[in-house]
Order: sequence, then structure tokens, then C-alpha cells
Amino acid sequence: LTVPKIRDHKKDGQTKEPLVMLTAYTARQAQLLDTYCDILLVGDSLGQVIYGLDSTLPVTVDMMIAHGAAVVRGSYHGVVIVDMPFGSYEGSKEQAFETASRIMAETGCAAVKLEGGQAMAETISFLTNRGIPVMAHVGLTPQAVNVLGGYAARGRSQQEHDKILGDGKAVQDAGAFSVVAEGVLEPIAIALTKSLEIPVIGIGASAQCDGQVLVTEDMLGMFERVPRFVKKYDDIAGMIDRTVAQYAEEVRARKFPTADQTYHPKS
Ligand code: KIV
Ligand code: NA
Repeated sequence: LTVPKIRDHKKDGQTKEPLVMLTAYTARQAQLLDTYCDILLVGDSLGQVIYGLDSTLPVTVDMMIAHGAAVVRGSYHGVVIVDMPFGSYEGSKEQAFETASRIMAETGCAAVKLEGGQAMAETISFLTNRGIPVMAHVGLTPQAVNVLGGYAARGRSQQEHDKILGDGKAVQDAGAFSVVAEGVLEPIAIALTKSLEIPVIGIGASAQCDGQVLVTEDMLGMFERVPRFVKKYDDIAGMIDRTVAQYAEEVRARKFPTADQTYHPKS
């Protein structure tokens, strides 16, 4: 898959089959997800998921590059997109180009993602005109948590409603090939999806979007507490708990290793 194919997946404002996107942070995880996904996102959510940080703000370009390169090594089919972390692109379009070109060159990813609408339009056009495909991210933008005041859904006032639709239009006009709409009231997600020519990927948005994305660890049930928009498809935390409990018990009882897992002299 390629970025133009993702863009052209939506034809004349319509998407037949929604795009499937999940986050991936490691090579093995990418291998396992790649078969089923159109897009693998190396999200800056790795700050919380992998590093135990309490927001995405401290995530660095070096962290994104290390995980981005690992995911590219593990994927053969899907398009790999890497998030630009907080502070690495907002200063100027030149700063954004420097960061994005480094991420592309050092990971081999197909595109970058950045948060923001209207305010990032000039940057998006600067990047796309210089060979860097950009996915935008509007609505609830976690890097702006200190301005937004939390992670609540967006679009409850007419002003916010209009801003989200305007942001979507602005990033499309600037040349973004797709846009993530996160944590927005469903009518806004539907209006955005209908009004844009580029695919709108929803998270906490609507089943009518042109695609869906979730944080993989969230949907696998790795965490107790997840946002309301996450469906837990499994209980991987419970599986790890049961498995490790059994290992600990067997080690303490000298039941592991058995003859199958030990080396024996030739007789
Ligand atoms: O960082 C991330 O995982 C994301 C997705 C949830 C869209 O930006
Ligand atoms: Na992100």
C-alpha cells in the first residue's frame, strides 16, 4: 500500500470499505498487525503506553525514530505513519521540515502525522510541496491538553463545532492526504466525513468515518482504564497475569524447567 492509494481509497467523497488503522510501536507488533491493517501508526501515545509518561508532551523525536524504524522493519503491506512529537514542528514550517525529513530518512516511514488544523495549514503545504506526505489530526488533539484543559470530547459549542469543520477543510486545502478526527461529537464526525474529499479516520468519532484507528494496547485490554471510545476486544492483561502467575508458581516449586527444557549429555 502507498499514500496515494490511501488517499484514493475515498472516491468522489465516498468510501466503500473503511480503512483499518492501529498503532504499533515494535517490530513484532507490526508483523502481527500488518496482515489486517491498511495503516500502522507509530503514535506519540507510546509516551503513555510504552514509557509510562502521563501525557504525550515529553515524547522526543529520537523516541519516535527508534520505534518508527522498528515498525517499518516489521511491516510489509501497510503504510507506516509516524507522529511528530510535541515541540518538534510547531515553531516554524522550516522546523517541521527538518523534523519530518529526519523522521522519514531515519525510519523509512511513508508519511508523518501532526496535530492541528488551520494553524498548521501553512506547514502542511510546505511539507507536502517538498515530498513529505502529511496526515493531520483534528478535534481532541492530546498535545494541546494544557490548552484544552483535559481529554473531554470536542464540539459541544457552536464555536468548537465550526472550528473542527474549518480545521478539516484547511488541512485538506493545504494538501494533507488524510485526517484523524479524535474525540468529537458524532454529528461533527459525520459532517466532516461528508464534506471532505480526503479520508477521515475516526477515533471516538463515528462508524460513518472513512476509517477507524485505536491504540492497539487499549483494544487488546492491556489497561484497566481506557477512554470511553475504546472497545476492549480481549483481556491481554488478564492473560499475562494468569501466565506469569503460573510461571512464578512453577519456578518456586522447581517444576520449571522440566527435562524438555534442559540439555542432557549424549548417552
Ligand atoms: O498517538 C496516537 O496513538 C494517535 C492516535 C490515537 C490517533 O495519535
Ligand atoms: Na498521537
